[in-house]
Amino acid sequence: MSHIAYVNGRYVPLRKAQVHVEDRGFQFADGVYEVFPVYAGRIVNQDWHMQRLAQSLQGLRMGWPLAPGVLNMILPEMLRRNGVTNGGMIYLQITRGVSPRNHAFPGGKVKPTLVIMARAVNMAARHAQAETGVRVITVPENRWPRRDIKSVSLLPNMLAKQQAAEQGASEALYVNDRGIVTEGASSTFWIVRPDGVLMTHPLGHDILPGVTRRVVLEIAREKGLKVEEREFTLAEAVKAREAFLTSATNFVMPVTQIDGQILGNGAPGDLSLSLRRAYIERIE
Ligand code: PDD
Repeated sequence: MSHIAYVNGRYVPLRKAQVHVEDRGFQFADGVYEVFPVYAGRIVNQDWHMQRLAQSLQGLRMGWPLAPGVLNMILPEMLRRNGVTNGGMIYLQITRGVSPRNHAFPGGKVKPTLVIMARAVNMAARHAQAETGVRVITVPENRWPRRDIKSVSLLPNMLAKQQAAEQGASEALYVNDRGIVTEGASSTFWIVRPDGVLMTHPLGHDILPGVTRRVVLEIAREKGLKVEEREFTLAEAVKAREAFLTSATNFVMPVTQIDGQILGNGAPGDLSLSLRRAYIERIE
């Protein structure tokens, strides 16, 4: 089935989907995005993703290209048109629009650019990966100080991911100049301390407020687990009993190695796997 993209009001075959060369997203990465998970053919946590999109738009002083209610109707239509009936994802990007190149915001009324794509994801491969866990590396935190905005300026994230791939790892964790692990290049990072306490970095400007993070926190608290949203160092992370990543596309993904150092017994931790199962049950 050919892929269909949504571009500024029209559903078009992906190979014909185009944006203008003077789009500010292309020239300045002046835009925001969202990744909506799709499970069993349904969009997961849609309201939370829309709420974060609203915050990202506000963070860059951009307006909605369409009323959120209309956007909410286009998303399932994209699944239908792309035949995404099982696992998958929807990518949505909004830029400030097309205007002659000039760093400052364009004057007058410029229409934001809206692009949406939908894809199936091989869920069996993701589940298999969770059975063995993934390796991660660390990189110095070199991103701008407003990581809570889901901006398309992903150059540092992309370079970190490439470095991870070249070292046979799945993710790169950012470690700031105080030795604190903030998050992954495209995921939230969690540890289980030797005393069993679950920890993840607190919200604020330093990390993206992950939607999966929010749901996993809710599940953990319902299970009566001890949870702390508090900073922790890389030294604490490598001594952790367990570690895992969360994101829209990976759900809960156990981590077994950081920079080649094996965590726990080198296998995915029980708590990580039980949170993964609980998360999947919830989105089902
Ligand atoms: N990334 N932190 C960063 C920097 C991210 O890019 C992401 C998601 C997350 C996790 O957020 P959520 O649970 O809402 O997916 C944390 C998406 C999946 C991406 O860029 O593809």
